[in-house]
Amino acid sequence: MESFDPPFQEFYKKLFDNEVNIKNDMNVLDVVEERELPLIDLSRLNIEQEKEKCKREIAKASKEWGFFQVINHGISSQVLEKMRYEQVKVFKRPFVDKANGHPDLNFSAGSYRWGTPSANCLRQIAWSEAFHVPLADISTPSDRSTLSTTIKQLALKISDLAQKLSEILAEQLVGHKSDLFKEKCSPTTCYLRMNRYPVCPISPQVFGLMPHTDSDFLTILYQDQIGGLQLVKDGKWIAVKPNPKALIINIGDLFQAWSNDVYKSVEHRVVTNKHVERFSTAYFFCPSYETMIQSCIENSVYRRFSFGEFKQHVQDDVNMLGCKIGLPRAME
Ligand code: SIN
Ligand code: FE2
Repeated sequence: MESFDPPFQEFYKKLFDNEVNIKNDMNVLDVVEERELPLIDLSRLNIEQEKEKCKREIAKASKEWGFFQVINHGISSQVLEKMRYEQVKVFKRPFVDKANGHPDLNFSAGSYRWGTPSANCLRQIAWSEAFHVPLADISTPSDRSTLSTTIKQLALKISDLAQKLSEILAEQLVGHKSDLFKEKCSPTTCYLRMNRYPVCPISPQVFGLMPHTDSDFLTILYQDQIGGLQLVKDGKWIAVKPNPKALIINIGDLFQAWSNDVYKSVEHRVVTNKHVERFSTAYFFCPSYETMIQSCIENSVYRRFSFGEFKQHVQDDVNMLGCKIGLPRAME
C-alpha cells in the first residue's frame, strides 16, 4: 500500500479493505472550464469619480456570480504571507498533536478536523484537514504564540474588509446604510478556518471539500496558487483560476436570506490534486448566535430566524459533509 500522510492513510486502508463503497457516482471527472472571477479593484472606493461604479460592480457580481475577487483590499502581503507560513508550520505537526490539542498549538482539541471518519462511500470523503478557529478563543491576552498573534493581526484587517463589503452590499440593496453588521458581527463572533488539502493518490475521485454553501454573511478566502476551488455558474461547475494578488469573496446563506435571493449563496467545492498539496484560509463573517436574520424586503420567501437556530440546522462547517442551502422558508 502506498504510504502518505496520516490520518488519510486510514481512509486509504478502508478503500483497500472495501469498507468504503468505491462505486463512483460523481461527475468530477467531467472536464471543467477554468474561469477568472469578476475582478474588483477596491482602491477605486477611494476615488470620488469611481466609487459608486465600484460599489455597483460589487453588487452585480454578488447577484450574478455570488463570487468575486478583490485586489488592493487593504491587507498587506506581509500579513498574508506570515499567515501562510504559520499555517504550513502548524499542519506539519504530528497528527497526535493536532488531534489532541498540544499546548503549543493554542487551540482546543476540538478545533482540528480531518476528512470524514464516518464516510462509507467515496462521495462522502473530504480529503482535507482543518483548524476551525473561533476568533473569540484567540483574543485571550495570555495567548502569545506566533500563530495566534498572526491570526489576530489578520482577523482585525480581514474583518474590516468584511464589514466594508457587507455595508456596500446592504446599501446597494436598500439605498441607505445598515447598522446590522457593525452591531452584530464583531471580529469575535466570526471564525477562521485554516485548510490543508494533502496530495491525494485517488484524485479526482474524492473531493477535498464536498459541495456546500457557506452559512455566514460572506466569506473571504486566501488561497495559494494551486487551484482546486470550483463553483456553480449558470448550472455548470467551473474551476476558479487563482490570482496571486487577489482575495476571493463569496456570498453566504445569511446574505441570500437577508436580500431575499438577490445576492446568491452559490454552491462550491474543492477538488483534490494527485501531485501537490494545497492550502487556504477562510474567514467567515458571522453575527452572534442570538442575532435575528430578517429580510430587508417585506414578504420575503424566508421567515425570520436566529443565526444560532440556522447554524444548528446546517452544521456544514462542523462535519464537512456537503449540504445545500437549508434556509427556513416563510411558509414552513
Ligand atoms: C471553503 O469552501 O470553505 C474553502 C474553499 C477553499 O479551500 O478553496
Ligand atoms: Fe465554503
